[in-house]
Amino acid sequence: MYILGIDTSCDDTSAAVVTDQHQVLSSIVNSQIKLHHPYGGVVPELASREHLRNMVPVVETALFTAGLGFTDLAGIAVTIGPGLIGSLLVGLYYAKAVAFVHQIPLVGINHLEGHILSILLEEKRPEFPFLALTVSGGHTSLYLVEDYGIYRSLGQTLDDAAGEAYDKVAKILGLGYPGGAALEKLAREGVKNRIGFPRAFLAPNSYDFSFSGLKTSVALYIKRWEQEQKQSQQVKIADIAASFQEAVVDVLAQKLIKAWESTGTRSVVIAGGVACNQALRDRLQQEADRYGFAFFYPRPAYCTDNGAMIALAGLYRLTRGERAEGTLDVRSRFSIEELAPGRKHEG
Ligand code: KG4
Ligand code: ZN
Repeated sequence: MYILGIDTSCDDTSAAVVTDQHQVLSSIVNSQIKLHHPYGGVVPELASREHLRNMVPVVETALFTAGLGFTDLAGIAVTIGPGLIGSLLVGLYYAKAVAFVHQIPLVGINHLEGHILSILLEEKRPEFPFLALTVSGGHTSLYLVEDYGIYRSLGQTLDDAAGEAYDKVAKILGLGYPGGAALEKLAREGVKNRIGFPRAFLAPNSYDFSFSGLKTSVALYIKRWEQEQKQSQQVKIADIAASFQEAVVDVLAQKLIKAWESTGTRSVVIAGGVACNQALRDRLQQEADRYGFAFFYPRPAYCTDNGAMIALAGLYRLTRGERAEGTLDVRSRFSIEELAPGRKHEG
């Protein structure tokens, strides 16, 4: 059984073919980073236009790589939200057209469900229930994943997402957009405890996050540093990057451990673009060794946006008989709670 997964939620045009054994036969991602780079962020209108341009070749390449045609597909899964409306529309209406023409079952997928389940594309997989921390450019959320489709939200960011904080600080440091990976690279040359940037733990038992105070604190520090210390090089720019990263990683790790202690799950999973970060992976691996939980993270290509995770979520939903109605529409906001079993997506 072959499922085609399509994701156009933000600035990547992605398509992949996944089997019912979770094998990824192809995963094609057309990145728009170069297009948006000069603007320091994603320009929604440009993103939609670029998706239109790339949608057909990306899907054709995914099918070609898998050695399949449309008629071989048992289903199509397409992201319907959350994300940029114009971008999502391209993916959904393309999928609707193809599904209609070839009479293929179609299902709409929540992008966050894709990230949560992305670890199941790997051979080394956790068993349910597990804790999942999704950290990306748009989201930072902690879930108790009880089973396919059953996600209990424990906490989320109250302001900036972790990736957004990385991107904003990277921009101040002149590292370009999106700057998460570049900032990590710079941080490797710095001393992580050089500057004690603030950590927001919020209420004692809160699993919510807040990164905007940290971002402001780093921005103010850099302003002062440029005036007073830059010349002397007592504190290097890499030290600032490393200290910022340490503050982010520290909060994520501490909250995750607390949640693990209170839920008693065996396994902890991270997903989303920031899950590519080696400092975060290393820290959580250390904690896993210390506390005795099993720690899982997908390979980088499945951490960042991709069609394979959408196909996988689609496989589960199509297998249990879900089908998109003709009125299915995109949603810029789409909370994971709305996926509660038995609840229908509204357009
Ligand atoms: O999951 P993703 O591809 O897209 C969203 O759904 O947002 O995540 C992109 C985010 C960006 O903010 C990017 O800067 C961040 O992930 N990112 C990283 C790293 N690689 C990507 N952040 C920190 N360290 C990295 N190595
Ligand atoms: Zn994403």
